[in-house]
Amino acid sequence: MTPETIEAYGVRLRLDRLTDVSDTAAACADPVTQRFLPGLPDPYTEESARWWITEGAPAAWATGGAAYAIADPATDRLLGAAGLSHPVAERGQAEIGYWVAPWARRRGVATAAVRALAEAAFAAGTVRLELLAHEENTASQRVALAAGFRHEGVRRSAGRSRDGRHDLAVWVRLADDPPGPTARLLPDLPEGRLTDGVVTLRRVAPADADALYRLHARPEVVANRVPPVPPTRASIERRCRLAESRWLAGQSADLAILDAATGTVAGGCALMYDEPATGQAMLGYSMLPEARGRGLATRAVGLVAAWAFDIGLARLWAGTRPENVASQRVLTKTGFQREGLLRGRLPGPDGTRVDSLIFGLLPGDRTT
Ligand SMILES: CC(C)(COP(=O)(O)OP(=O)(O)OC[C@H]1O[C@@H](n2cnc3c(N)ncnc32)[C@H](O)[C@@H]1OP(=O)(O)O)[C@@H](O)C(=O)NCCC(=O)NCCS
Repeated sequence: MTPETIEAYGVRLRLDRLTDVSDTAAACADPVTQRFLPGLPDPYTEESARWWITEGAPAAWATGGAAYAIADPATDRLLGAAGLSHPVAERGQAEIGYWVAPWARRRGVATAAVRALAEAAFAAGTVRLELLAHEENTASQRVALAAGFRHEGVRRSAGRSRDGRHDLAVWVRLADDPPGPTARLLPDLPEGRLTDGVVTLRRVAPADADALYRLHARPEVVANRVPPVPPTRASIERRCRLAESRWLAGQSADLAILDAATGTVAGGCALMYDEPATGQAMLGYSMLPEARGRGLATRAVGLVAAWAFDIGLARLWAGTRPENVASQRVLTKTGFQREGLLRGRLPGPDGTRVDSLIFGLLPGDRTT
């Protein structure tokens, strides 16, 4: 059992009090809290807060978990909540959960509370702490990274929100893991973008769905997809919504290529971190027809390659269909070298297999 009060990292974890009712009600009625904690009553009223303080929180303790208010140590005012739930004693496992009131966000309160509570839980015998976040809850996954949790995978359809089921991202910290922050395979871009004044690249966002659907539904782009079938609009929307989560998990850096002069989307470029153990990632790109023929793809690939080597990758690779001369030109102009032909590597149309020409780039090869 964790102690009744924990004071560490600039926050105080203490038991809930009836004087917290109005702050709890205001924080739990906040739309972001409601969206990502779908188990909360909706609407959340002062009555709901009173129930939590007098019945909900004591019940969490009684079943082997913990329920704390996060308070400002100077004023004791409520800043949020943090707790342990779903304890599995025989596995030394529990789940950590939290919310921070809108008036206390973006100043490290959640990170401090999660660190403090994780350490108390480990001291009390927990070995494995799970942190399960809605797959689109990137603020919470950033807290996980800051507090030393590592991405373990996705629990498919394990979450239920007011508008249906969704996947949960699984982040885990073990008792003997370092306290964090967890090193990221794919850090954020410096100031959120890469640019040479002609093209700008930034993380794909939900608002890019129209442009990226138009791009990926084009026949000559579909021909390079694996398998070569047109995407659904829903799959492109999902890809845009999950771009930040997949970046945080170190899986892919999905980038929109913008015309720097107009800010409009000119194409897309993705770095798939397919082999972290050997420091290798795959690069893919495509341009909208109106943006082709101006050297923008070559510039974009050059910028991404420079960033990739800056963050520690050792080698980039790309594959093209043997007849895709335009794409091969982009690669060779950036310094990629042709390394070989992999026969029948990819699924082709109608059950066939197609060959793939493989190109590789080492840091010393770069020409842009
Ligand atoms: C998720 C939540 C608890 C974060 O609380 P917080 O106190 O603002 O978090 P912190 O200040 O400790 O921020 C931790 C990291 O996340 C980043 N972050 C926090 N909110 C962010 C946001 N809305 N957008 C982007 N980054 C964000 C911070 O910049 C910080 O990054 P750094 O470590 O690289 O500096 C808060 O937004 C919240 O209560 N959300 C609703 C409830 C919820 O989602 N609970 C978790 C369910 S799994």
